[in-house]
Amino acid sequence: MVTAYDHMWAGIMDEAGVDSILVGDSLSMVVQGHSTTLPVTVDQMIYHGEMVVRAVKRALIIVDMPFMSYQVSPEEAVRNAGRIIKETGADAVKLEGGRIQSETIRSIMRADIPVMAHVGMRPQAVRQLGGMGKVQRNAEQLLDDARAAEDAGAFGVLLELVSADVAKEVTESLSIPTIGIGAGPHCSGQVLVGPDMLGLTPSFNPKFLKHFADLRTQAVSAVQNYVSEVKSGEFPSAEHSH
Ligand code: KIV
Repeated sequence: MVTAYDHMWAGIMDEAGVDSILVGDSLSMVVQGHSTTLPVTVDQMIYHGEMVVRAVKRALIIVDMPFMSYQVSPEEAVRNAGRIIKETGADAVKLEGGRIQSETIRSIMRADIPVMAHVGMRPQAVRQLGGMGKVQRNAEQLLDDARAAEDAGAFGVLLELVSADVAKEVTESLSIPTIGIGAGPHCSGQVLVGPDMLGLTPSFNPKFLKHFADLRTQAVSAVQNYVSEVKSGEFPSAEHSH
């Protein structure tokens, strides 16, 4: 799984063969430039989700439920999950929380909308946690959250920043798949934020992240070459003129 937020990148990810594309609420930070995931709205998630859906031919598309779109009540959560599925055409939604959101997961499932739960480090809890980035090692708590999500009907559990041994235990104790980010090699699958793994956000460099390309450097260099060729008159040449 990787994240994508628009038609062009979702098409690239789909063509590359990922099983699933997450329209993550990380778009608040990666695309919109906020310092947390909190500001992004349901309407904005839908706007980006639609673009992704139009590009994808085969991958499963999951759209994040943004902060305060599901926390107030299960009813409001069902309404917002319904809007996301109906207006984007995506396959499923994801929300943060295990045990504390089990009633909400159950309600969304009752509306026949598949839900993935996101446990471990929860970026939407940044205010309560006093920051992001602490590795979660409490096996009892993580097992309880993951099992509660499974019991409520979640089709998968995303584990963020969980120590590898605990992620292994959680994965082995569930019958639904786990998808890890910063959760070691024993999860059923892995997810990375698309722009991060492509090297488009080089200042974000946590231990769990691997840059599979250096696209920011290449893009800056390409634009520098364009600027310099326009200034020197080398571009457009006869070859690029009508
Ligand atoms: O919003 C997001 O990008 C996520 C990541 C943890 C994959 O949920």
